[in-house]
Amino acid sequence: METYKNPAAPIADRVEDLLGRMTLEEKVGQTNQLVGVEHFRNNLASLSADDLFRNTAQAIYPGHKPEELEEWTRQGIVGSFLHVITLDEANRLQRLAMESRLAIPLLFGIDAIHGNANCPDNTVYPTNIGLACTFNTELARHIARQTAAEMRAMNMHWTFNPNMEVARDARWGRCGETYGEDPYLVERMGVETVLGLQGNLDGENDVLACVKHLIGGSQPDNGTNGSPADISERTLRTTFFPPFKAGVDAGAATVMPSHNELNGTPCHSNRWLMTDVLRHEWGFNGFVVSDWMDIEHVHDLHGTAETVEDAYCQSIMAGMDMHMHGPGWVDAVCRLVKEGYIDEQRIDDSVRRILTYKFRLGLFEHPFADPEKTMQVRLCPEHRRTSLEAARQSIVLLKNEGGLLPLDAKRYRKILVTGINAQDENIMGDWSASQRPENVVTILEGISHCVADSDAEVVYVSQGWDPRNMDPKRVKRAAEVACTADLNIVVAGEYMMRYRWNDRTCGEDTDRSDIGLVGLQEELIRQVAQSGKPTVLVLVNGRPLGVEWAADNLPAIIEAWEPGMYGGQAVAEILFGKVNPSGKLSMTIPRSVGQLHSYYNHKPSQYFHPYVCKPSSPLYPFGYGLSYATFAYSNLSATGEIHADGKGQVDVAVDIANTGDLDGVEIAQLYIRDEYSSLTRPVKELKDFKRVALKAGESKRVHFTLTPDKLAMLDADYHTVVEPGSFVVMVGSSSQDEDLLKIKINVK
Ligand code: GLC
Repeated sequence: METYKNPAAPIADRVEDLLGRMTLEEKVGQTNQLVGVEHFRNNLASLSADDLFRNTAQAIYPGHKPEELEEWTRQGIVGSFLHVITLDEANRLQRLAMESRLAIPLLFGIDAIHGNANCPDNTVYPTNIGLACTFNTELARHIARQTAAEMRAMNMHWTFNPNMEVARDARWGRCGETYGEDPYLVERMGVETVLGLQGNLDGENDVLACVKHLIGGSQPDNGTNGSPADISERTLRTTFFPPFKAGVDAGAATVMPSHNELNGTPCHSNRWLMTDVLRHEWGFNGFVVSDWMDIEHVHDLHGTAETVEDAYCQSIMAGMDMHMHGPGWVDAVCRLVKEGYIDEQRIDDSVRRILTYKFRLGLFEHPFADPEKTMQVRLCPEHRRTSLEAARQSIVLLKNEGGLLPLDAKRYRKILVTGINAQDENIMGDWSASQRPENVVTILEGISHCVADSDAEVVYVSQGWDPRNMDPKRVKRAAEVACTADLNIVVAGEYMMRYRWNDRTCGEDTDRSDIGLVGLQEELIRQVAQSGKPTVLVLVNGRPLGVEWAADNLPAIIEAWEPGMYGGQAVAEILFGKVNPSGKLSMTIPRSVGQLHSYYNHKPSQYFHPYVCKPSSPLYPFGYGLSYATFAYSNLSATGEIHADGKGQVDVAVDIANTGDLDGVEIAQLYIRDEYSSLTRPVKELKDFKRVALKAGESKRVHFTLTPDKLAMLDADYHTVVEPGSFVVMVGSSSQDEDLLKIKINVK
């Protein structure tokens, strides 16, 4: 038996043996990724050439037929597919690959951002912006583990997740797939996701993770996806790089560069990023996959390559290993090698990296998934329970004046429910395919279930799903019903469903120049509230929304983000007090787009001169979230010493009491401030957090360990140092000063 076919042989030997047998075309074939045949077929009728150029989610290959992709697979010149969304197609394409001369199995990649939600019949969890509001890193790992199992049950081996970007601009449509604005929270949630997805990369339930997008796309010049990022090296190294480096340190198998140019160089041809930093500084030894036709954009958009072929050459020489996606790659790269522009050894490097992970995933031994078993894993009871629990923990109670919430159904005779997101699977959020109705609980369904054993009548006034095309008559209808109801619940927000790509208001390639509510939603809220009856606003959205009028005029607001398949149940359980909310904001909610950028860990001079006419404070700050219980912090202490040479540690302790009459969970946050430093530092930096369960009346002393790395900074030469001097340690329930106890420590 050839060594590469021998599962007992060391992987490195199998790789070398196989590499030695491959022609140049077969090698380049391994770096060649295409969209699925059915994806291509489904888009044939609808996609124009301009659509193809501009969008980053649907593709066709002009001049080619879907069947050709199958032929290329048989020839062994395709290494990977993406957007294959059924097990049948994955197994079918894999069988074709097994017919090729060397029978190298295909790698199937997919965006499993919150469960393998982009495929039908899978568990759909809350998206990452909400998951980050749980501050529950174990949960993130758990969800990743379950997602990996569901993916492998569909013969999918690689997810383009976690998005490790620090999201700082609410105009950007992709905030929802990130873990928010704080580098430490992003890092902790992202690392646990990498670990959960990959396991030891030696089992049949492991998948490759992909930390993306390197780098800067989450602070785009004008808030739109892919627009230039002009970010200083210092800000890159202190704010944007750390989560990526942590993801690489956690063993992430793949990295994806960002659409945008960074300080003049497209990320996709950026040697500094893909080689100097990623490989030489961070020691990354996985493989780099391009983002959607972004190598072509080096030529046809950024204009730093005169031909596509030149763009391919630049990108490969800068560190690119796999091309997402398209048919022109193989011939062009083979030509570049034959004409001496690229050494074949450079191609061998990429092929080694890719083959290594195909062997580690066991694809040579198990190239297929079993259709008989697939639905024993996908949507199994344990995964469903996790999705519901994650939704419950991800929802943030922003306002609850006069204790309107939790609602007691017995006190209400007639409850109005209205709004574009009250009765729609849109609660699943971006990166979700349509799911069976029985696998989605809408908010209206959740509410109806919660009041079922009371006399309350739920009256639903539909506003349609489309915020751009709301009907004033329906708004008026809701306002009329509100006058005869005892309670009003308006479910507003954004529209994210990908099967209505151009109707969305939030999600990938869906960026706004405003962060208010689209369409007649604010009108609806005002008119319903005019009834004088208590009106609750529930938001379903991926980006923060500046709902300032509601914040000033309504008694209660719930931020549900994109809570997933059980979002409706979780929202209703929180409204009616079956669940006590515990979520804390992973991203600042600004009052308006004019406040951007607005994030909590700003530099000291950021508001030295506050705005005039309008407040400088955000609507709701990072780390903020209410509970039906109340928590009191006292007796903050700090014992121990930290030395500038990096030795020592400090034990920070605080009493937290549940002074309310309901059991609850408090997310205690620890921030630091370096009072005087050689370079400016943020007014506060999150360095630890803990979920603390407290029964009504219970008090606990909670401990944090402050180690030197948590006080460290990068000096002028980007060396990590702990500078001597005074630090303020802050512990409390949110990032705002009035919620924090403070104590000083002195670094010797
Ligand atoms: C898109 C996104 C990227 C995603 C890829 C495949 O362009 O930018 O995050 O993984 O295409 O869907």
